Amino acid sequence: MKLRRALPADAPALTEICVRTGHRGQDARGVYSDPDLLAAMYLLPYLALEPDWCWVGEDESLAPAGYIVGTPDTRAFSARAEAQYWPALRARRPLPPHDDMRLQARLTRALHSSPPSSLPFLDSHPAHLHIDLLPQAQGQGHGGSLMALFIEALRAAGVPGVHLGVSAQNPRAIAFYRHVGFETLQDAGWGLWMGRRC
Ligand SMILES: CC(C)(COP(=O)(O)OP(=O)(O)OC[C@H]1O[C@@H](n2cnc3c(N)ncnc32)[C@H](O)[C@@H]1OP(=O)(O)O)[C@@H](O)C(=O)NCCC(=O)NCCS
Repeated sequence: MKLRRALPADAPALTEICVRTGHRGQDARGVYSDPDLLAAMYLLPYLALEPDWCWVGEDESLAPAGYIVGTPDTRAFSARAEAQYWPALRARRPLPPHDDMRLQARLTRALHSSPPSSLPFLDSHPAHLHIDLLPQAQGQGHGGSLMALFIEALRAAGVPGVHLGVSAQNPRAIAFYRHVGFETLQDAGWGLWMGRRC
């Protein structure tokens, strides 16, 4: 797999990867009524606001088969997204009724709640990331390569640590993160906040 920086033109292909892996590592189509909201929340803001921190893995036909996106500074990213990104998206996806407990409604509620810029480990682990590979690209070392690239870039930038959130119902990803050096920082109930030093 060839790794390269993501480009704005990659957005549709990366959205597809995000959706096909967005439900606990599995396909979110048919689970969410509007699965593209997953990409609008967990992928596209990074392409828009942190283009230097977005990489793509291409398969033999040069089609994107995976990506890693993130930010070296979660607090600064959250502030910029609050000013430049979330308001327009929230306006397009209004809050659902409070008794709607479907996954789509929960996701939309997460969109409208403030991002977790007050997490207690942001001084030691200020960066965060999202990583996803299409099923046919998994289990061949590509996730490890994308992660190593991202961590090396953080190290070169002098960033002390990185965190991520992972669903409790995605044990495969949790095991992968442990294998590449992440440990649990906090049990969030819905899943884990994990982190590692750079
Ligand atoms: C999770 C994911 C990014 C891992 O990437 P991957 O390409 O499948 O993992 P790799 O093949 O690069 O594995 C890298 C290393 O981790 C190890 N590893 C991978 N998955 C593992 C697991 N479930 N348990 C233990 N070790 C694991 C590999 O053995 C390998 O070890 P090595 O470097 O010592 O040989 C990928 O499977 C994926 O995109 N899954 C679906 C989407 C998802 O769940 N994303 C995370 C959302 S929070």
